[in-house]
Amino acid sequence: MIRTFIFTALLVLCLDGYIETESPGKRVRPENLTIQCWAMSYPEKIRCTWNLHPDTQLNTTFITTYRLGLSDPDSQCVQSELHPKSCIISDFQMFADVPYVLNVTAKNALGSITKLFPFVVEDIIRPDPPENVILSPIIGDSRKLLLRWDPPHSWPLPEMFPLKYLIRYKRGRAKSYKMIGPYEQSYFYLPVTQPKSVIQAQVAAKDFTDFGNISEWSTVATGRLLGP
Ligand SMILES: *[C@@H]1O[C@H](CO)[C@@H](O)[C@H](O)[C@H]1NC(C)=O
Ligand SMILES: *[C@@H]1O[C@H](CO)[C@@H](O)[C@H](O)[C@H]1NC(C)=O
Ligand SMILES: *[C@@H]1O[C@H](CO)[C@@H](O)[C@H](O)[C@H]1NC(C)=O
Ligand SMILES: *[C@@H]1O[C@H](CO)[C@@H](O)[C@H](O)[C@H]1NC(C)=O
Repeated sequence: MIRTFIFTALLVLCLDGYIETESPGKRVRPENLTIQCWAMSYPEKIRCTWNLHPDTQLNTTFITTYRLGLSDPDSQCVQSELHPKSCIISDFQMFADVPYVLNVTAKNALGSITKLFPFVVEDIIRPDPPENVILSPIIGDSRKLLLRWDPPHSWPLPEMFPLKYLIRYKRGRAKSYKMIGPYEQSYFYLPVTQPKSVIQAQVAAKDFTDFGNISEWSTVATGRLLGP
């Protein structure tokens, strides 16, 4: 009787320990905070995003401030409930003498962590990808397809700060893309040598002056020549 009791108690303890250590949703304090910022709406807005590894499994709040250099007062990088783990900086100088520093502090019931992310605005320019990418046949032309797109709507002043575009395209089952560009206009006549092939094309945007990075590739547009 007593032996059975002890055995059961031990079993319960073991199982308990097992559940504590092996359950996937282990609650932890914030660690390993990674931060990325991109000026996707230069010169008006910068979007910063962050991640915690592993997930803390606890309500965690984030304090997000930034400042120019070391001496300026802090400003808020503004978070919204709509886009968790991100914030927007909408007040900054172009071509500042010193880097900005973003401070992200993650806090939960078990602890907190602060990570600083220094950046030069012009180095982190990266437009969002071009939109409404369409590949269509041209009536009366059996050798070209017309690729058209719109600049990303988040890029606020395309006349003052123009974008240029790179194109990559391939035949349906081909392994590798052919990359061409940059081009300043928002359309291109793609040469097609194989009349029956389905062509896949994507477009990426970059600041005209070559500051910062190229956008991600747009969604894929597909098209083919008009049949004979
Ligand atoms: C988090 O950081 C610690 C210490 O830097 C490291 O040992 C651990 O592997 C990291 N965890 C993950 C999931 O990256
Ligand atoms: C997390 O926050 C939500 C909303 O504020 C609340 O309903 C929930 O009980 C909290 N969970 C914990 C574990 O504190
Ligand atoms: C970062 O922000 C936290 C929370 O506001 C603050 O306590 C900390 O002092 C800041 N660190 C630096 C280096 O600015
Ligand atoms: C951004 O561009 C820089 C320089 O051209 C490059 O070193 C870096 O890897 C790029 N970053 C990303 C995320 O593409």
